Amino acid sequence: MTPPSPLAFVPYISVENMMRLVHSVGIETMLRELADAIERDFVRWNLFDKTPRFGIDSENGVIELMPTSDGELYGFKYVNGHPTNTRQGLQTVTAFGLLAKVASGYPVLLSEMTMLTALRTAATSAMAARHLAPKDAKVMALIGNGAQSEFQALAFKAVCGIEEVRLYDIDAAATAKCARNLAASGLRGTACRSSQEAMEGAKIVTTCTADKQYATILTDNMVGDGIHINAIGGDCPGKTELHRDILLRSEIFVEYPPQTRIEGEIQQLPSDHPVTELWQVISGEAKGRTSAAQITLFDGVGFAIEDFAALKYVHEKALATGLYDQLDMIADPDDPRDLFGMLTRAREAA
Ligand SMILES: NC(=O)c1ccc[n+]([C@@H]2O[C@H](COP(=O)([O-])OP(=O)(O)OC[C@H]3O[C@@H](n4cnc5c(N)ncnc54)[C@H](O)[C@@H]3O)[C@@H](O)[C@H]2O)c1
Repeated sequence: MTPPSPLAFVPYISVENMMRLVHSVGIETMLRELADAIERDFVRWNLFDKTPRFGIDSENGVIELMPTSDGELYGFKYVNGHPTNTRQGLQTVTAFGLLAKVASGYPVLLSEMTMLTALRTAATSAMAARHLAPKDAKVMALIGNGAQSEFQALAFKAVCGIEEVRLYDIDAAATAKCARNLAASGLRGTACRSSQEAMEGAKIVTTCTADKQYATILTDNMVGDGIHINAIGGDCPGKTELHRDILLRSEIFVEYPPQTRIEGEIQQLPSDHPVTELWQVISGEAKGRTSAAQITLFDGVGFAIEDFAALKYVHEKALATGLYDQLDMIADPDDPRDLFGMLTRAREAA
């Protein structure tokens, strides 16, 4: 059989190469660079085609497609969210994604995105906190100590200067795992016996729990003035983490309102409840934190532009370092209209 032509090949970042890439850049440097890359694309917000992600719900979870384009490149991510998966030894979240040239529709990158989603989610959270959290915050409560948690902790260290994380999970084994993984990070990790205890002395709280129902990870009495809340675990219809009363006391910042109104904490509020779009704060069109006593809430559900920025970032890094494979992915007949002839010749050659 004749070997595939150069046009057949699409660069592919495997899980192995993604992990090599992270270690070659250094995880904290990568989280900082990702936060900057995502911030740059938030400044270009109006250029992008945007749509709420398309989700198909089932009893155990959701499978979503997240597309966007800046007119030059098109990107999408496939991602699932299945909170009961870990009981069967499967992850709650797995993902992969693709970048393509808008002009021809030809893919330029296929990539694993389970690792990349954890990195981009943490980078987005820390980037939002850079604009919204009290500047002197050194302690963060981290509630939900599963797959996302260490990435969140390291991003807040690298981007916001957090020095201590106070850990709580309903499963003490998850907290022990998280503390162990962070032991050499330079962060002080303190295991706590309740969310309330985790909140002691914290100026930032990150909630990243997984439960496919309305949950109340934080109640109103736990949240004092001046706190920044980074709520990322409530990201589907019927799946929230905060008591409604907290929302009513908070200044709420979101990614893309048409998506967050369906999926975020604000699904608990009327559809006209005022929220501020994060991109407007970043580009100076809206105010972020306006007083030390204000409670700011980043109601993060994850938006396609963050994945697009992350894919573009790893695409450049992979091409520069050679940490990718070439995937024979696009059928490329000699005559573009003779796809069938290509198939016939393959049988003759077999
Ligand atoms: N916003 C985003 O962009 C984004 C991106 C990725 C994941 N997520 C969401 O973040 C959440 C965490 O993801 P993950 O991959 O770390 O999941 P995971 O299943 O690995 O970890 C979740 C942890 O939450 C704990 N938990 C559940 N209920 C709790 C409670 N009431 N109090 C304290 N801890 C509790 C579980 O024991 C588990 O350790 C999921 O809901 C996921 O859908 C959001």
